Amino acid sequence: MEQHRKDSLLENELFSLISHEIKTPITIIRGFAEILEGSTVDPSMQEKIAKAILGACGKMERLFFHLEKIFSYGKIEASFSSIAVQPLLEKIYLKAKNKYPCAEITLVNRVNNRLHTIWAEPFLLEIAIMNLIDNAIHFSDEKKCVTLVMRASAKSYMLSVEDRGIGISSSFQNKVFQPFFSAHPKRSKEKGGSGLGLYLVQRILQQHQASLELVSKKGKGSCFTITLPLEKQ
Ligand SMILES: Nc1ncnc2c1ncn2[C@@H]1O[C@H](COP(=O)(O)OP(=O)(O)OP(=O)(O)O)[C@@H](O)[C@H]1O
Ligand SMILES: [Mg+2]
Repeated sequence: MEQHRKDSLLENELFSLISHEIKTPITIIRGFAEILEGSTVDPSMQEKIAKAILGACGKMERLFFHLEKIFSYGKIEASFSSIAVQPLLEKIYLKAKNKYPCAEITLVNRVNNRLHTIWAEPFLLEIAIMNLIDNAIHFSDEKKCVTLVMRASAKSYMLSVEDRGIGISSSFQNKVFQPFFSAHPKRSKEKGGSGLGLYLVQRILQQHQASLELVSKKGKGSCFTITLPLEKQ
């Protein structure tokens, strides 16, 4: 395929990725604006609402910052660099705990070497992993337990996102990676899901020469494992 066609396909993918990510803060801002418009809010709630709106604005600013950064290079490849994988995953784990304070999120490290590096675009990789964590939370009922497991072999680094949620029946397990497909349409609709998350996760991982494997049992839980190629040390 000609290079400029490849680039424009990639730009379209990124455009949908950012549009997908931007939905959440817009929903938050709209929701709180509707509350403010419709009723008098007591002062203690006012502060909470202002904080939530500011947080959502911050998220949008970061998205635009990264978007600008990525596109200013002209090519996504140019924003890849050698990244120490373990500190990046630890940072994402802390962000997830912060995002879901009521969930039980655990990090299990089965790797001794903190010096492993991968060739990656950390912002995109973070979006991919966070999408898996979002799903683990959204498709679990009251008890939201998510375990992130880090493992390594001679050539690869593996991250598993495990949950004990509602699971995916075997007949749907291949389909969940297709755009706009949901194995649980009622629940997806309730939480405003677009069904694009896993498709975008896969596209990001393809750009990292990484793979994504799913093991799931209906009613028991799911485990998504990302396998990233390690750089030679
Ligand atoms: N951890 C999980 N447990 C159970 N089902 C899951 C899990 N992750 C994904 N699924 C199923 O796969 C479908 C596709 O997931 P995907 O992330 O692409 O979309 P979504 O979460 O519905 O929407 P969005 O990501 O846009 O918010 C989900 O609708 C759900 O049926
Ligand atoms: Mg999702």
